[in-house]
Amino acid sequence: MKVDGRHFRSIWLEPDGWSVAAIDQRRLPHEFIVTRITTADEAGEAIRSMLVRGAPLIGATAAYGMALAMRSEASDAALDRTARMLLATRPTAVNLKWAVDEMRRVLAPLAASARAEAAYARAREIAEEDVAINRDIGRHGLDLIAQIAATKKPGEPVNVLTHCNAGWLATVDWGTATSPIYQAHDRGIAVHVWVDETRPRNQGASLTAWELGHHGVPHTVIPDNTGGHLMQHRMVDLAIVGTDRVAANGDVCNKIGTYLKALAAHDNGVPFYVALPSPTIDFSIDDGVRQIPIEQRAASEVTHLTGRTADGRIETVRVVPEGSPAANFGFDVTPARLVSGLITERGVLRADRAALASAFPERSKAG
Ligand code: MRU
Repeated sequence: MKVDGRHFRSIWLEPDGWSVAAIDQRRLPHEFIVTRITTADEAGEAIRSMLVRGAPLIGATAAYGMALAMRSEASDAALDRTARMLLATRPTAVNLKWAVDEMRRVLAPLAASARAEAAYARAREIAEEDVAINRDIGRHGLDLIAQIAATKKPGEPVNVLTHCNAGWLATVDWGTATSPIYQAHDRGIAVHVWVDETRPRNQGASLTAWELGHHGVPHTVIPDNTGGHLMQHRMVDLAIVGTDRVAANGDVCNKIGTYLKALAAHDNGVPFYVALPSPTIDFSIDDGVRQIPIEQRAASEVTHLTGRTADGRIETVRVVPEGSPAANFGFDVTPARLVSGLITERGVLRADRAALASAFPERSKAG
């Protein structure tokens, strides 16, 4: 998508053909800084520190991390070591495991001498596939927005509420939840996005607002607890969120606070859609609410806030009394019954086991 009129992806291979560049998302929206990643350890650290984040981008970064590892040592031991290191970086987004397993599947049978080249080829493909998948998600989601625009909101903007950042920054390009929004906007359908700020890391306020603004999409940032009020007053036509892992039964894990929005949507008859690429489906998990591992992050993300001062300095300040404990659950799980539909690259599906298995039989059989 566009930054100041120039097309960017969130991650790419540098012209040297081996090092990887990524936008440092910890510095947005205040500074636009591109970082070079030159080793597997740096790729792991980029994921752990949330320099890159968002399920599909975490997967793509891990794939490049495996390629960087193979460039310096392509033994079986290096393959296993790198896979273990990357898998330990963040627990919830299943795209990480999907990408690492995929790289291992391709690389393990090869002679060590062939691994580096094959690893770069597959990592590049994974990144390209993500872009194509998200474009298709956008195409299917666009139909939902277009239908609301035509039937319920002629001449008025369609109001979409989203949570966290499931935008192009969270993927390689397009985003998942934002892809239908960008495609609607680009086709001249009037959309307006309610952007949940998404405490504690503020991915909505800092990232979603930044990327929508740079693409020219009208939007308004709201405190996380505003959605219910807006829905009661018919100010939300539909909600579209991303996800870090969808269980085989259609339960959806996403950034903490998503569940509350789904409850409010259900109570107010607002359609609640989840946009996902197929690598986000975890067919090995039958019950998302009980089985998806939920990342717990540092209390300091809750007790402190970072922002830019009037004179341009980036500062971190404490907002919670010294001595008050803070809990920081990174994700929650929305039960499938609250999900109106899953927007995938193969169409909009019911959030249930049968629909997921029949749309993605090759993934469902592999478990
Ligand atoms: O902790 P983050 O910022 O990696 O969490 C990201 C989200 O929850 C996104 O909404 C999700 O990964 C979907 S991204 C297309």
